[in-house]
Amino acid sequence: VDPSLDAALRAVLRPLGSATPLPPRAHTDAALFEREKIVIFGSSWICAGREEAVEAPGSWLLATIADESVIVARGPDLALRAFHNACRHRASPLVTGTSGRAVELTCPYHGWTYDLTGALERAPFAPEGFDRTSHGLVAASVSVWQGFVFVAVDAAAPPLAELFGEVPPWLDAAPLASLRRIHRADYETRANWKLCGENFQESHHFERVHPSLEAITASENARSWLRDGAWLGGIMEISGGNETVSTTGRRADRPRIVPPELDGLVHDALLFPALFTSLQPDYLLTYRLDPRSVSTTHVTFEIFAHPSVESAADVVAFWDRINAEDRSICERQQMALRSRFAAPSCYASVEDGVHAFDRLVAKTLLGGE
Ligand code: FES
Ligand SMILES: [Fe+2]
Repeated sequence: VDPSLDAALRAVLRPLGSATPLPPRAHTDAALFEREKIVIFGSSWICAGREEAVEAPGSWLLATIADESVIVARGPDLALRAFHNACRHRASPLVTGTSGRAVELTCPYHGWTYDLTGALERAPFAPEGFDRTSHGLVAASVSVWQGFVFVAVDAAAPPLAELFGEVPPWLDAAPLASLRRIHRADYETRANWKLCGENFQESHHFERVHPSLEAITASENARSWLRDGAWLGGIMEISGGNETVSTTGRRADRPRIVPPELDGLVHDALLFPALFTSLQPDYLLTYRLDPRSVSTTHVTFEIFAHPSVESAADVVAFWDRINAEDRSICERQQMALRSRFAAPSCYASVEDGVHAFDRLVAKTLLGGE
């Protein structure tokens, strides 16, 4: 880290009232993004989807993690494994698409074939004496928590629970593993991934950016849940006679998925760096971020509900609008941060959640202090 960046990152680590936000170059510098790919995305656990996509033997899903492509596959022995999606011949990707089912994986380039434990079965025209058994697919790590599949690109990653630290209690109180997905949308936000994270971490912008959300969960009643680990949480109250967050404010026939003491509240939690969750009384939202460049972030947005729920047009319509509003404000902010004269000065007193997120970024880039 060069001295001026080092000083700027240390200024983020100061107490909220005297800290300075991440410098503009943290969102625009391609070299810094390359570093983040290694020290942040390359050494964390990243959520890759739901276990239901890889339940059957031979089923696989593809995780993309800041330019790394990892296959998660259920073997014939029912074990879940993860492999880098690169053939051991000359590194063609073995699979494309987001998921599938196979007995073996055959490289589309020259036909090298692997079984679903990653072992190389056939290697046409390999040189004499070539040892197939030592040229299986390169392993990554996989772990499942509450129905969510997590991948670490490094096979030697420390256990998922070590990254987690203290888990927000509401995520343990809701039956997340039994929920079913009722909606998925994929979109590109032309902004640095950290602007998306900072945006998720505060409700200070609701009044101007999301008047329809402010009317249901007023930002003045928001409070943060901040601990030492990788989870950053926040709680909001549903008010104005609404039961949930949707175009009607009504739960309709959707069963509650939270215990009674959590009813009437929205519980947000971000798992650093790239999973955002929002637990409502009757559904769960998740956003998974995959940074594609310093200024482009692929977002996978999903809605989960009780298995008896098949669709929820009122919820989908509400969040499509909110997501478009967030995307637009983050994209405009990204443009403005490209200016030589951009000079962020401070965090607002209600932005402790943004500060906590930026502190994790700064600490990691400074080398884990
Ligand atoms: S690169 Fe896969 S078989 Fe050649
Ligand atoms: Fe927002």
